[in-house]
Formats: sequence, structure tokens, C-alpha cells
Amino acid sequence: MSEPLKLGIAGLGTVGAGLISLLDKHGRRLSETIGRPIVIGGVSARSKGKDRGVAVAGLKWFDDPIKLATDPEIDIFVELIGGEDGIAKAAVEAALNAKKHVVTANKALLAKNGVELARLAEKQGVALNFEAAVAGGIPIIKTVREALAGNEIRRIYGILNGTCNYILSRMQDHGLAFADALKEAQDKGYAEADPTFDIGGFDAAHKLALLTAIAFGTKVAFDQIHIEGIQNISKIDIDAAQELGYAIKLLGVAVRTEHGIEQRVHPTLVPEDSAIAEVSGVTNAVAVDADFAGNLLLVGPGAGAKPTASSVASDIIDIAAGFVLPPFGVPSKQLATYKRAKLGEHQGAYYIRLTAHDRPGVMAAITKRMAEREVSLESIVQKSPRTNPGAPATVVIITHDTTEQAIRQALDQIEKDGKVAERPQMIRIEEL
Ligand code: HSE
Repeated sequence: MSEPLKLGIAGLGTVGAGLISLLDKHGRRLSETIGRPIVIGGVSARSKGKDRGVAVAGLKWFDDPIKLATDPEIDIFVELIGGEDGIAKAAVEAALNAKKHVVTANKALLAKNGVELARLAEKQGVALNFEAAVAGGIPIIKTVREALAGNEIRRIYGILNGTCNYILSRMQDHGLAFADALKEAQDKGYAEADPTFDIGGFDAAHKLALLTAIAFGTKVAFDQIHIEGIQNISKIDIDAAQELGYAIKLLGVAVRTEHGIEQRVHPTLVPEDSAIAEVSGVTNAVAVDADFAGNLLLVGPGAGAKPTASSVASDIIDIAAGFVLPPFGVPSKQLATYKRAKLGEHQGAYYIRLTAHDRPGVMAAITKRMAEREVSLESIVQKSPRTNPGAPATVVIITHDTTEQAIRQALDQIEKDGKVAERPQMIRIEEL
């Protein structure tokens, strides 16, 4: 065998430790595959003494990840530190400037700085691979960038956050309230102590921004994403949706429309008999509508030491085999400017839940406002609380396809009319 391939691994959290254990288990076979021994040339993390469940004592230790990134011995810098800038960005830039290949799991870094870093990697003639940044163990970057390169992609969407999917699944399948399901997710270590990043939809949005750029050949446009989290999804919505034949999922959706590109992360009603509705717990799923390959769905673990390490290993093997593509599939200077479609022009069906005053004429007034905006109703169900006559009633409406602008205007008017006791709930339905 020829010269060893030396990895510099910065960040020894869940993914870093997972990578070390993967190399322990499969390193010999992978070395045979690439025809070079794969070795860990150095590691860096915040605390040297911490027990990580894997042996790091024999590895060359670097207190400074930038020193590791630029060490002449290192061939590939593996960035598993995290964070959209700070030391992670500085170390990746240092590695690229030193003409080192980079593998990263850092979605936040790339969602913010992806094009700039891709440009630098291309200029230096090195790889910047990030399979592990999106949907953990699901090889979606490779699938879109390579396997589907011969297709035009119309839409890419999916369940991109395991924590949210766990919470919604527990609410749907076990009747938990949102707060209890969140507490459970935190106890199991899925959600962060500050769960805003997951349940607010930001983690899913980082992943969506990267998928959109690769699928559509556009510049990464994280700040153009419409983001809604799952905080306002109640058990009432889960139950009402279920009664009408739907499940509620937090989806990230990127779709080309006649007005531009829609990128949105929001709770979504999906038909309960669809494959994506069946994806429960922390599992992720990514669907791609491609013109030649057809409609694909990839399902698998979206986080965790082993799945994420599997994706990092895949990136390393590609580099070792000499397979280096521009990070976003096409050279960064050819990435098209992102044209955002206005959300008001979004076309689709909607789930609406109103807490309506239980008085004569209220339903007529609600449907009149819908009709004025040409919103056509597919179904409407009213439930009055039997135990409390006269209290507001829950009215659930499923609309036919309409525009977001029309539905928002109708709901604003209904609120202004004083027919409802609370802000209306509005959830988009995705056609699958
Ligand atoms: N916190 C994420 C999730 C995993 O719950 O899916 C890492 O992106």
C-alpha cells in the first residue's frame, strides 16, 4: 500500500467519537478499498481528559484546531466542532487555504457561508464535502449531487428534524400534549436543553438551504426561507387532522414555481396514507421529485453517532478515491442567483381551525368571507363543547387549492369581524 491518508479530526462530540469508533471497526477494510491506510493524524477538542467512550490517548493531540487544520501531515481536515462561524469557520478556512480537503457535518456554517467556502475550496482545488450535515445517515447529498445529476428536480422536501418528528409522533400516536412530548424528547437527549433551534424550525431550515442549492443549482439562500416551528401545534390540531385523514409533520419544502423558488419550513398536513406520514419518531425522510428518475423517498436516521459517522466516512472515501466535485455540484460561480417566490403566491390547500363564537350567523359570516376571496371549501366541521353550552366552538375547515394571500386576507377579515375568540390556526397541506 502507498502513503497513509491522514485525517485531522476537530471536535470529539457525538459525531467525532462515532467516527473514531467507525474507523476502529471498519478502518482496515476501508484502507483496502482505497489502497491506502487510513489513519488519524491528529485530533482536537476542548477538553483533553473527557471520557468519550473511545480511545484517544494514543492520538496526537492539538489544543488549537487551526494548528491541526494546517498541520503539514494532515490530508483531510474533518470539522465536527459546529457553529455558524467562530472557530469552526476559522479552522475550515485555514484548512482550505492550506490546500487540505475538508469534510464537515456543520450545516449552520454552510447555510451561512456555503458559497464563500465553496469558492475557496474550488480555487484551492480541494473538496468541501458535507454529507453528514443533512439528514444524518441518509446519503441525500450524494444522491442529489451525483445519482440524480441527470435530472431536473422540481421539488425536494422532507422531515429534516428528528426532534420535531419525535414530538409530533408522540402527540399523534400516544396522545401526549406538546409540552410533555418535548420534555420526553429532552430527557432522551434528542432535543437540546434550549430546544428553540429544533422546534423553531431553524435546524431543518439550515438543512433545507443546502438541499435547495444542490437540487436547483442556486446560491445558498438560508435567509430567504419562510420558517415556522411546531410550537403552536396543539393536540386539537393533531386530532382534527387525523379525523380528516391527515398527519401533521414539520416539513422542509423547496419547490420551483412559475414565480420563482419557494423554500419553506412549517408544520404541514400530509395524507395519512402517504409514505412520509408513516415516518415516525426521530427518523428523517427526504423526497425528491425528479423528471427522469421519478419520485424518490429516502428514509433513515437523521442524527446520532453512528449514522452521522457513516456519512462522514462516505465523504472521506470519495476524497481518497480522488473524486472531488464542486461542493454544490456545479462550480460556485455558475450557481444561479436565488429568485424567491412570494409566499402570498403559494398555491395549495389549507387546514384552518377557528375558535368561533357559538352564535347565529357566525358560520355564515365565516363562509362569506372565504367566498369573497374565492376560497372554496372542501370540508367544514363544527364541534361545540357539550359540557359548556355557549362557549366558543371549534370549526375545522379544509380548503380546496387557493393562494396564501387569499386565505390570509379571509382570516384577517374574519378576525376583524369579531367572529372568533382566538387567532385562527392555519396549516398548509402539501400535495404529495
Ligand atoms: N437536532 C437535530 C434533530 C439533529 O433533531 O434532527 C441534528 O441536526
